[in-house]
Amino acid sequence: MDLTPRLLKIAQEIRPKERVGDIGTDHGYLPIYLIKNQIASTVIATDINPEPLCAARNNIRAHGLDEHIKTKLGAGTVPLEEEELDVIIVAGMGGKLIIEILKNSSRLKKSVNRMILQPMQQQSELRLHLSMEGYHIEKDLLVQEGRRIYEILVVSLKTGGKSKEPEERSPSIPGPETARIEKQYPKSFEIYQSMQMELGFFFFENPKSLAEKFLDLRIDQMEKIIRETGGRDSEAAIRMNERAKIKADKLKEVKGCL
Ligand SMILES: C[S@@+](CC[C@H](N)C(=O)[O-])C[C@H]1O[C@@H](n2cnc3c(N)ncnc32)[C@H](O)[C@@H]1O
Repeated sequence: MDLTPRLLKIAQEIRPKERVGDIGTDHGYLPIYLIKNQIASTVIATDINPEPLCAARNNIRAHGLDEHIKTKLGAGTVPLEEEELDVIIVAGMGGKLIIEILKNSSRLKKSVNRMILQPMQQQSELRLHLSMEGYHIEKDLLVQEGRRIYEILVVSLKTGGKSKEPEERSPSIPGPETARIEKQYPKSFEIYQSMQMELGFFFFENPKSLAEKFLDLRIDQMEKIIRETGGRDSEAAIRMNERAKIKADKLKEVKGCL
């Protein structure tokens, strides 16, 4: 079974023999791929809705993998509370929903080593939440599928994954990474820092052509907002217009640094 580029990129982040929890599995394609290709040792596929979980069950059965992939109905990490897992995947959901799921996952935070998160929207809110909560973002991957470019965050819960005291919390890159990135990308570091939450800590580690396309798409989005709000005189429209202009300029600056 072939996966779409987005799901394949997620699958490539799973390490051999890891025990995986796939939250919001829908069709179950990712668990099936991970077992069929002998990547994961076990997968537990969950979904909040019975219909997608039923579709996942049927697909799993059709591939003869009932014994290797457990399916569980329930919200977020609740169905995984009693399970022994190495990594959880939360893909294809909005950043705000992923944040809600993480907020209700305190027990799992102690037992799971890694998370692979693939937010469809509100990516910067999710990065901010992860930083404030002391999670350690290890990779910010981009993957193109059709005309869209998706973002995938690989997060470690063990290195620096301890919850910080409120006064310690700051939305900045942890020390050693700041120094390394500053050294590696001296020309663009200042602009990069101001766009951290928007683009991710490791944006520049993606292939240049992909990073360029991603920035072009974001710039187009901002220019659309600028056009649509330009003639309006409500306070909200004026604020949106100003923000979009600032963001578009920053994105162009980053593009100039690639
Ligand atoms: C768009 S699909 C994504 C499917 C798959 N993860 C992917 O990336 O292709 C989102 C799935 O998440 C499920 N879902 C939504 N909210 C959820 C929650 N709080 N907990 C578990 N599953 C949820 C939905 O029922 C749906 O099947």
